[in-house]
Amino acid sequence: MTEGDRYLYSQEPPQFNLVIIGTGTIGQEHMRVAAMLGRARVHGIYDTQAHSLDAAEENFKKLSSDTLVRYPDLQSACNDPAADALMICTPNYTHFEVLKVAMASSKPIFLEKPMATDLQDAAAIVAMSASYSSFIQIGLQYRYKAQYVEAFHEALDRRSLGIVKTISVSEHRPPFLDKVGQWNKFSRFSGGTLVEKCCHYFDLINLLAQARPSRVYASGGQAVNFLDFEKDSERSDIDDHAFVVIDYNNGVRASFTLNMFCPDFSEEIIIVGDEGKLIAQENFNFQQQAESTTTVEILKGELGVSKKMDVSYTRALEQSGHHGSTFYEHIAFVDQLEGKSVDCATALQGMWSMVVASAAQQSMITGQAIDIEEFIETNDLKILQP
Ligand SMILES: NC(=O)c1ccc[n+]([C@@H]2O[C@H](COP(=O)([O-])OP(=O)(O)OC[C@H]3O[C@@H](n4cnc5c(N)ncnc54)[C@H](O)[C@@H]3O)[C@@H](O)[C@H]2O)c1
Repeated sequence: MTEGDRYLYSQEPPQFNLVIIGTGTIGQEHMRVAAMLGRARVHGIYDTQAHSLDAAEENFKKLSSDTLVRYPDLQSACNDPAADALMICTPNYTHFEVLKVAMASSKPIFLEKPMATDLQDAAAIVAMSASYSSFIQIGLQYRYKAQYVEAFHEALDRRSLGIVKTISVSEHRPPFLDKVGQWNKFSRFSGGTLVEKCCHYFDLINLLAQARPSRVYASGGQAVNFLDFEKDSERSDIDDHAFVVIDYNNGVRASFTLNMFCPDFSEEIIIVGDEGKLIAQENFNFQQQAESTTTVEILKGELGVSKKMDVSYTRALEQSGHHGSTFYEHIAFVDQLEGKSVDCATALQGMWSMVVASAAQQSMITGQAIDIEEFIETNDLKILQP
């Protein structure tokens, strides 16, 4: 190797040690992505299930020769002096309790979405986060998907669409996957489908609308999936389709459509302003295991340049998880560890995504539109009062 090559291929050693709490599907994705990014080392792991730890260790061996510390309990996982940051990747219903133990360490924390299963816990987390000596980043990483990075740039930075008026989002996909203990088949463990899954989309819509939601109406239910699914004699109660309408206090109107009994995955955002329309789409033919296609199209009519583009990250990044968005989420997390200011989901943004989701779930039950200011008052969410 020549001297020049040595510098070309040399990489700074990882600067931070991470502890992963909960080593199921997403915990292992974070381990994979951290190893790929190489700026932080996975130092240790903790899970309540030995088989999750075994699987995580086995899979990690394929990526790294680093030995992992395996903690016997949550306290020791959170308080290892060698650890610089904690990543909480446990099921939704455990987040609040695990977070309280993690925060006693004063270490930087990454907390998976949704931050909690109910709004009272979410409000407590926002309050705790505001006075925390370190920082808490929430795992709402869809904002880093290639098509949304471009959509945000066009709609919010370049203002290519003029003043944004309407936002329509949809997700069509197959049913929820298996989880350790099947927690995602029950609303009391997941917070409900719109909280568990769709907080990602409500976060995107909130960011694009740049205002407070004022009214939410939704219709939906459980039509096809897990109708016969039971665990410990308890029947699955999770919704598999929904139509949600959201009004914002700046006049922006939005809609969200969910269908979870489709053969393929597709996501779409259509944003329309007074000067143009943007369509961002991601399609993944799950049955054919074909490569996903991701496009952004802008139509300006007579007002300017229209264009359509394929957008992507490198194949390796896209395959590392959530179409590369988890990788960029890690960049934001490590940048924050280095003291840089970054664009990442805050506890307050995480809570607003839950407010829209929870109001929509309530509307589905009552059949009535939910006035958000009243909803905030009824639920005693003082932290959100203007
Ligand atoms: N950001 C995203 O796109 C994304 C994607 C998938 C999952 N998630 C979120 O990540 C979290 C985990 O989801 P998953 O799909 O990995 O679930 P999973 O069931 O595959 O894994 C969860 C793991 O946590 C362990 N666990 C349960 N209780 C624990 C506790 N008290 N302490 C330590 N470990 C515990 C389980 O044994 C299991 O190994 C959920 O909050 C989920 O909503 C986020």
